[in-house]
Amino acid sequence: MNSKIESLGMSTGKVIYSCDDCENIHRLKVATTMDLFKSSGVLLFRGFGVTHEQMKTFAERFSSRFIQDYGRPQVDSDKFVHFVDAGMDNSSFHREHGYSPFCPDVIWFCCAVPAAQGGETTFCDGVRVWEELSEETKQLFISKKLKFCYEVQADILRRFTGLDGTITDIKQVLDSLEGVNYQIKENESISIEYICSAVVKTKYGHDDAFANSILTLDYGEATLEDDSIVPDEIIGEIEKVTDKLMEKIPWQAGDLVMIDNSRFMHGRKEFNDNRRQIFSTLSNLNF
Ligand SMILES: [Fe+2]
Repeated sequence: MNSKIESLGMSTGKVIYSCDDCENIHRLKVATTMDLFKSSGVLLFRGFGVTHEQMKTFAERFSSRFIQDYGRPQVDSDKFVHFVDAGMDNSSFHREHGYSPFCPDVIWFCCAVPAAQGGETTFCDGVRVWEELSEETKQLFISKKLKFCYEVQADILRRFTGLDGTITDIKQVLDSLEGVNYQIKENESISIEYICSAVVKTKYGHDDAFANSILTLDYGEATLEDDSIVPDEIIGEIEKVTDKLMEKIPWQAGDLVMIDNSRFMHGRKEFNDNRRQIFSTLSNLNF
């Protein structure tokens, strides 16, 4: 890769700048990009003028399958690219779909229009978060898993799994998943209880990473697996550590970002500009 590469803030992440002979992102070498992603976990491609269509075709080179999101407007015919600007509030750190057994390996973002002020995507390295948490907190999350309880329609699970099957097919998938208990109600509404560790092994390196959705309330408050509430002081400690390790992506039009969802949590700073346009797609990786 002839491109100029710099560190992204104080993180292991990297910024890859376009150069004269590689202004088209599709000219970047796939193997080199894979190696860089494995070692750094967050890549920001700047100056390539990436559109959401190009994000999808570029992501295809690295992906075994895409995962449809829901609750967000889809902007492509395959329904795999989403417009992410629901609301303008601050978004707490989370692992994308960390409440769900259908957690993507990577989240891709691209920026068509940045907010005039604020609206940065934030990220923090779950490996470093785990290193910095106190021994007492680590012991709590080693001894007890997290529990997420929520209800989804079968159609949403069809999108996640990519299976356009019957309810029996969905049952088979759910039965095969670790940590999942479920109840199918009328109208194909499925109540799901998902138990997973707050500490996961990174896809590359197999290191312990504190990567989960404990700080977001989108799918109800996460409890510990014995139904006890995570103590406020523990949440406070996590917020303090993640704030300290927070890195920001100050968006420019045409930026593309890929984030390793097995290692990094991400969020967003608030903004007040309804012209902001950020798109995302979720996928599992082929390397
Ligand atoms: Fe997210």
